[in-house]
Amino acid sequence: MPPSLQALLLFVHLLAAVVWVGGMVFAHFVMRPAAIEVLEPPRRLPLLAAALGRFFRLVTAAVVAIVASGLALMGHVGFARAPLGWHVMLATGLVMAGVFVYLYAALWPRLREAVAQAQWPVAAAALDKIRRLVFFNLCLGVATLAAAVSVRAG
Ligand code: HEM
Repeated sequence: MPPSLQALLLFVHLLAAVVWVGGMVFAHFVMRPAAIEVLEPPRRLPLLAAALGRFFRLVTAAVVAIVASGLALMGHVGFARAPLGWHVMLATGLVMAGVFVYLYAALWPRLREAVAQAQWPVAAAALDKIRRLVFFNLCLGVATLAAAVSVRAG
């Protein structure tokens, strides 16, 4: 693989990680607490559902980009020769992707429908499950970053 293609793949990989992990930090630590502070449930839940819908579309692209670029970069070096940190990154990255697919395919439609029917307690329960899984993925994302960078420590 030419070094320029390798650099481009790493750029895509890091951009996707920034969008995914950074977006989760914003959703968890900024957007949600601010919405709770300012809005009552009938206005807060539709706002958060709309914001998450947009974010999850971006994350879908980020997940595809991060897994494809990561596998291409790892395959280039060879899975057998890849350092331990890369294998850890592959494992935690795939768990993160699986968690995201579950929350987007199973929990997000529940939230959207409950909001559309103004069933606020049902919507709040679905949103709470999504929040827990987003926080779980955020922790795993930070661990993945640590695994990636640990390779440089030798
Ligand atoms: C899902 C499967 C994944 C695979 C197969 C994978 C694979 C790789 C590989 C092979 C590299 C080294 C590229 C090089 O230096 O040529 C790399 C770098 C990196 N990856 Fe991943 N990755 C995955 C997921 C993730 C995720 C989810 C994150 C962040 C949350 C992440 C963050 C990083 C970072 C920060 C680097 C740069 C490390 C450095 O240069 O010190 N990766 N990845």
